Amino acid sequence: MLSLKNIKFQYQSKKSFTIYSICLDIPPGEIFSLLGPNGAGKTTLIRILSGLIIPQGGKVSICGFDSIENEYDARRSLGLVLGDERTFYFRLSGAQNLEFFGGLYGLNRGFLKKRIPELLEMVGLRDDAKLQYMRYSTGMKKRLALARALLHDPPVFLLDEPNSGVDPRSARSIREIIFDLKGRGKTILLTTHDMSEADKMADRIGFLREGRLIKIGPVSEFKKVIKRNKLEVEFAGACDVATLGRINHLVQRLMDFAPFLSVAYHHPVIEIMHNGKFNLSQILKVVADEGPPIVRTSTVEPSLEDVFLKLAE
Ligand SMILES: Nc1ncnc2c1ncn2[C@@H]1O[C@H](COP(=O)(O)OP(=O)(O)OP(=O)(O)O)[C@@H](O)[C@H]1O
Ligand SMILES: [Mg+2]
Repeated sequence: MLSLKNIKFQYQSKKSFTIYSICLDIPPGEIFSLLGPNGAGKTTLIRILSGLIIPQGGKVSICGFDSIENEYDARRSLGLVLGDERTFYFRLSGAQNLEFFGGLYGLNRGFLKKRIPELLEMVGLRDDAKLQYMRYSTGMKKRLALARALLHDPPVFLLDEPNSGVDPRSARSIREIIFDLKGRGKTILLTTHDMSEADKMADRIGFLREGRLIKIGPVSEFKKVIKRNKLEVEFAGACDVATLGRINHLVQRLMDFAPFLSVAYHHPVIEIMHNGKFNLSQILKVVADEGPPIVRTSTVEPSLEDVFLKLAE
């Protein structure tokens, strides 16, 4: 369980930046994805939650431990992946780094001897365990950071762009690891710029813009921000201009010439944009009665990327 109450923060430097009164509860077993444009404050918020910077106001509680009053227990309950690669020792190998951090977490040698190879295997670094960290590629560094976050099997994970710079195969395996954590009841807050990833993974999304959490909700709720859906109908052959005109007129009439509705034709597909509140079977019947034979129909929802662009405006 991760709980934020009225978190406020302002950098006291020449570049002023403010996080405005953020309140949020993330229950166990939930993946919460923080989205937002560059500079919105996502990493800053993760740094606050992990105790790396102290907020000017508000409280962070991690599994019931206050991040300031119970700093030690709060930190022990966290698995953290930050974008910053300087937190590893460049001259040590991947395995030695994990051994070092495992020691810092107070994990005993016997346990680590078993745990480290398991984790390296899990993140696909088994064959590179003995390679110096400085020789790791960007994606390998990210995977090692995830392995480190998993070392002490904490209940809460804060993952800042865990998949950035990772190749598609490894990204998929990292997604599987994160889903597995969710399945084991862990609380997960992650940031990503990959909208399809957020779409696939997140139970809820929070959209941060200029330090304000402007919208929170499930992915389906976010998609309602865009009031345009698309119905595509593919014909077996070409549709002539007269037929198109007739279909257009009938569909428009059916929907009372609603301003949201538009019909376009890109051979051999007719596209009907609508606001999601129409009876699609009626529209389809008009198209089927008037046009050439239909080979395919599909409805296209707005993507999370469309929503992102709209909310970032
Ligand atoms: N140490 C610092 N001192 C002053 N300002 C800072 C400091 N670190 C970050 N900032 C500013 O805080 C703002 C938020 O930065 P942050 O890194 O949290 O954004 P972000 O949402 O993680 O962006 P990105 O998507 O690029 O990772 C930016 O305007 C940044 O320039
Ligand atoms: Mg960031």
